[in-house]
Amino acid sequence: MSKHVLLIASAFALGLSACGGDDRPAADTSVTPPATTAPAAPSTVMAPAATMTMPAPATTTTMPAPATTSAAPAAASPPSDKPAAVVDNCATTIEGNDAMQYNVGSIAIPASCKQFKITLRHVGQMPVAAMGHNVVVARDADLQALAASGAQAGAAAGFLPAGDARVVAATRMIGGGETTDVTFDTSKLPAGGSYVFFCSFPGHAALMKGTITVG
Ligand code: CO
Repeated sequence: MSKHVLLIASAFALGLSACGGDDRPAADTSVTPPATTAPAAPSTVMAPAATMTMPAPATTTTMPAPATTSAAPAAASPPSDKPAAVVDNCATTIEGNDAMQYNVGSIAIPASCKQFKITLRHVGQMPVAAMGHNVVVARDADLQALAASGAQAGAAAGFLPAGDARVVAATRMIGGGETTDVTFDTSKLPAGGSYVFFCSFPGHAALMKGTITVG
């Protein structure tokens, strides 16, 4: 008698915990006690309960994945909507304006160039203190940290840390109507690396950045 009561009790408890409070298994088990087939009940109850529980989390986990994947390419597109810089004689001239924008989104340096010259024209009218622009060449992976270091360096330092090894090349910071340039050895941009040019004026790199490729 007591063995039967224990088995039924445990079957009842397992059915409850496995189904997370669903009423139906509990009702079925309570009907079982009069019969002598009580031992068979636990396995019968457990099997469907486990099967029903498994698919639910699997389906939930699968759902967000496609949404995240499809959103990624869309977010990556906007920065590349600007044209590539016109390159001639291992040199290019790009523009910065009062709307915190460069006029190009990429610079392709020919592999034959041992040196490369980037000229920056600020075609706006705002002063350097309000809308300063420069061109900093660096590894893509260093952009965020370098921009942060530049902001800390302050206006007197041209918003760029002095002697920082992460800076491949950089022009001075200029205001509206001014022009500046920088020439650097392309050997500083080894093949296989990902490079960018950006403005280190605080906050500008969010919009003022583009890619540099060599080859
Ligand atoms: Co700027």
